[in-house]
Amino acid sequence: MSGGRSLLGRRRGNTWLRTGLIVFIVMFVWLQLNFLSFRGSVEPSQELNYSNAAILSMVPAVLHKFLTPKPRNFSQLLGTNGNSSANAAYFRATINISEITKNIIQYNLQQTVYNEDIFGPLQNDSIVIVVQVHDRITYLRHLIVSLAQARDISQVLIVFSHDYYDEDINSLIQSVDFCKVIQIFYPYSIQTHPKEFPGEDPWDCPRDIKREQAILRKCNNALYPDLYGHYREAKFTQTKHHWWWKANRVFHQLEITRNHSGLVVFLEEDHYVAEDFIHVLRLMERTCKEHCKHCNILSLGTYLKTYNYYGDSKKKEALRAIKQQNIVSAGQVQPSWTFQVLPSLYQHSQKVEITPWISSKHNMGMAFNRSTWSHMVKCAEYFCKYDDYNWDWSLQHVSQNCLKQKLYAMVVRGPRVFHIGECGVHHKKTNCESTAVISKVQRVLKSAKTHLFPKYLTLTYTSLVKKTKLRKGNGGWGDRRDHMLCMGMTLR
Ligand SMILES: *[C@@H]1O[C@H](CO)[C@@H](O)[C@H](O)[C@H]1NC(C)=O
Ligand SMILES: *[C@@H]1O[C@H](CO)[C@@H](O)[C@H](O)[C@H]1NC(C)=O
Ligand SMILES: *[C@@H]1O[C@H](CO)[C@@H](O)[C@H](O)[C@H]1NC(C)=O
Ligand SMILES: *[C@@H]1O[C@H](CO)[C@@H](O)[C@H](O)[C@H]1NC(C)=O
Ligand SMILES: *[C@@H]1O[C@H](CO)[C@@H](O)[C@H](O)[C@H]1NC(C)=O
Ligand SMILES: *[C@@H]1O[C@H](CO)[C@@H](O)[C@H](O)[C@H]1NC(C)=O
Ligand SMILES: *[C@@H]1O[C@H](CO)[C@@H](O)[C@H](O)[C@H]1NC(C)=O
Repeated sequence: MSGGRSLLGRRRGNTWLRTGLIVFIVMFVWLQLNFLSFRGSVEPSQELNYSNAAILSMVPAVLHKFLTPKPRNFSQLLGTNGNSSANAAYFRATINISEITKNIIQYNLQQTVYNEDIFGPLQNDSIVIVVQVHDRITYLRHLIVSLAQARDISQVLIVFSHDYYDEDINSLIQSVDFCKVIQIFYPYSIQTHPKEFPGEDPWDCPRDIKREQAILRKCNNALYPDLYGHYREAKFTQTKHHWWWKANRVFHQLEITRNHSGLVVFLEEDHYVAEDFIHVLRLMERTCKEHCKHCNILSLGTYLKTYNYYGDSKKKEALRAIKQQNIVSAGQVQPSWTFQVLPSLYQHSQKVEITPWISSKHNMGMAFNRSTWSHMVKCAEYFCKYDDYNWDWSLQHVSQNCLKQKLYAMVVRGPRVFHIGECGVHHKKTNCESTAVISKVQRVLKSAKTHLFPKYLTLTYTSLVKKTKLRKGNGGWGDRRDHMLCMGMTLR
């Protein structure tokens, strides 16, 4: 997933006018979604059952523990009457920023690797999975369940990289018992810098102010609007910073990965993996060595053409519109491509495509090794100073303008990584679109079961994708402070 989507807003304010607008837009989007899902759904005639019970019934009983929130003992904290909503609010208030910061520093210093005693040390060619986590614990639970069911998962190391500190998320991750796990914490989060850069400083220029006015006002970043004339919005910048930080952290700073030369897979909290994804990754790795020496990046997810409902250049404006209407998430606007993954796709489950890497198509379930990274990181300036808040577009910019060997991808035709994050940040319903998508992914994978674990791969070549226009960035990354923060992550 690209860019700031996972950061998108919480619902705030509730005037009638806004409510009306939201209802209108949600209806509109809902109609669109249904239209698309009708056209592409797996079995249109089948009554789908999205209940939590139905979803649970597809998950082995031993893994239910990852889906069940632990009741917290508040009486210990408060000695009160068990009013859980009041207690939860109280609990959040009691963990203050200085404490969070202290804990983050501790975690990052100690680099505790869980379960190393059970699963043994990391081999230099093991697979390392890095998961970028914000605050959507429900999706994360399902990702963990899917990872738990993957064959050979016991041999990997999972790095959970957080930009939001939360005790519930921590205890969920520390309960993972099927492989080695380490947690790292992005230290420049908005959560820990609510009133200063990289969060929102009260003296920052408002997004829509004119440059001349900004200069008169002498607000912090008056000289640096983005290429569309807009000033920085903290929320939109965090994902790209976090992405760059964690990659640097994993390749250069963690003790456990110091000698690692194998594949590093990049996932996000709202992804879901197929049980043969490690098997397929290994096959791809071997096939690359033999048949595609110039391939330097692997991709386990693939978007179908119909996915691209919003043109990419419109993406940011779409996100912005949503944000301004205070809609819960941009995820709702993007029709889910998973609706259109037909089980028949898996009859070609051994097919892979060799193609120039394209950010918008190949950014899901990406994997590369230290040698590819060493080329990318030399292009830090191209990544950090490109006026686009999306990490994947920035990587595309790196590939096109700086790398000697452009990014060349091997991509599976039958996706092994799915995006389940349709419900957006802080969605309160228990049975919203998110569980519908999870349910669909479960069904697709179930009906594809006999096609998983291919013995070999067959290659198709897409030599030249129609000439990608040199495009302007999507903006949102004009502020010099962002450039410097990002560049600083690469200095060691
Ligand atoms: C959905 O599935 C659950 C569990 O399998 C079942 O108890 C429930 O009756 C089903 N609901 C519908 C509407 O089919
Ligand atoms: C909760 O904490 C209190 C005080 O420490 C303790 O007496 C009680 O047994 C705990 N309850 C549970 C369910 O752990
Ligand atoms: C719990 O606390 C909330 C917030 O203080 C309050 O609105 C609600 O009435 C309380 N509920 C009960 C059952 O005490
Ligand atoms: C934060 O919490 C700690 C421990 O509860 C307390 O000692 C400290 O004074 C608090 N700091 C602020 C700024 O509230
Ligand atoms: C991995 O480690 C083994 C021995 O521990 C060593 O022989 C091998 O060269 C290493 N491979 C790489 C790619 O570093
Ligand atoms: C990395 O390799 C060096 C030299 O071979 C060795 O001393 C060190 O223990 C290794 N570190 C890890 C974490 O494997
Ligand atoms: C890393 O990937 C490159 C392709 O980008 C490949 O040539 C190289 O053999 C890989 N290194 C290891 C240690 O697997």
